[in-house]
Amino acid sequence: MKSIEDESGRGAGSSLEQFPLPSDEAQHHSEALIEVIRDAIDTAGGVIGFDRYMQLALYAPGLGYYSGGSRKFGAEGDFVTAPEISPLFSQCLARQCAQAMQAAKLDQLLEFGAGAGTMAADMLLQLESMQALPKTYLIIELSAELRQRQLETLTRKVPHLLERVQWIEHLPDSFSGVVVANEVVDAMPVRRLRRQAGRWLEQGVCWDGRRFAWQEMGEAQSGLSEALEELDANEGYRTEVCPLARDWIMELGDMLQKGLILLIDYGYSSREYYHPERRAGTLMCHYRHRAHDDPFVYPGLQDITAHVDFTALAEAALDAGLSVYGYTSQAMFLFGNGLESAMVDVDEPETQYRLAQQVKHLTLPTEMGERFKVMALGTGLAEVELMGFALNDMRGKL
Ligand SMILES: C[S@@+](CC[C@H](N)C(=O)[O-])C[C@H]1O[C@@H](n2cnc3c(N)ncnc32)[C@H](O)[C@@H]1O
Repeated sequence: MKSIEDESGRGAGSSLEQFPLPSDEAQHHSEALIEVIRDAIDTAGGVIGFDRYMQLALYAPGLGYYSGGSRKFGAEGDFVTAPEISPLFSQCLARQCAQAMQAAKLDQLLEFGAGAGTMAADMLLQLESMQALPKTYLIIELSAELRQRQLETLTRKVPHLLERVQWIEHLPDSFSGVVVANEVVDAMPVRRLRRQAGRWLEQGVCWDGRRFAWQEMGEAQSGLSEALEELDANEGYRTEVCPLARDWIMELGDMLQKGLILLIDYGYSSREYYHPERRAGTLMCHYRHRAHDDPFVYPGLQDITAHVDFTALAEAALDAGLSVYGYTSQAMFLFGNGLESAMVDVDEPETQYRLAQQVKHLTLPTEMGERFKVMALGTGLAEVELMGFALNDMRGKL
């Protein structure tokens, strides 16, 4: 499904009739958020950058998609993430963390954007079974509502390990350990650009009297992306850049004394991301398991994401003094961390079938296996041969 844009770059938008009707309560919630965003647009003189729109739509206190009360993850929500599909994902990730922690004598884990808390609970269980528990498992989560959900999940699934978990508001000044972030970078606000007459114009958001719409904001500042500057894009080509992700990696670089950062997300190298044929960018929205590309549908009730430019993350890491230890597909990362061993001790046919379905979902190229990538950054671990990148390391493609 595509929203329709005319030549001025203003979106005619999708018709709301295509989407399941939200409850009255959810509609009121969305209307309250619309007011907040309209105020921001008025204050800014009629248009705001798309990054500001996305930040408010996802994180406005109490109203944004991640800060409000809607269900989000799982079958009754809007999308499922790998840890919600299967504990096998978190078990494999935990094995990779354990290898790095043991090799480098590290005893802290830090998770960004822990969602419903499922990955934290399943990783802690796996680490416990390997006698490789970290002394502390720190969580940084922007959404107060999700922090509460994470506490509930961990209290239910790992009450005996809860004392090791701490929620923190900001990055510590210094940290040695392993950092994990699954589907966090794709939720960072992006700037939206459009090619016109050989220039990159920034696309902002206005209120057209009825709903939000795209509006050009003038020429985009230069230096946003090297790959983009080299791209010979056709008229009307649209794409995104995420300067916030670079800032975030720089902060992680400042913080990390010794350790590993594992980033898992859907995305590509710069060359694939800014490919002449990817004319409509990578913006994607999820509302009740429908994926579409109109970010102005029911603000606050739908997720808004963009794919991740992994080359940009690697460049930021190098600039921050970190090393890039590996880059591979989710499938290869999971197999490298013993995914197939999950099936070995299972005799019961029903469980075998269920696990096989989960493995397919996580690894098939047509599902999450190839679209999702894993990148390892860090410092002080050059000697460690990370298991997750042993089968296929694609750093050469970045
Ligand atoms: C798509 S969800 C993924 C949740 C979880 N990691 C999972 O795999 O199920 C994105 C998560 O990242 C959080 N988030 C986004 N930006 C963040 C940031 N800069 N710092 C901490 N959390 C962030 C959101 O609030 C949300 O919990």
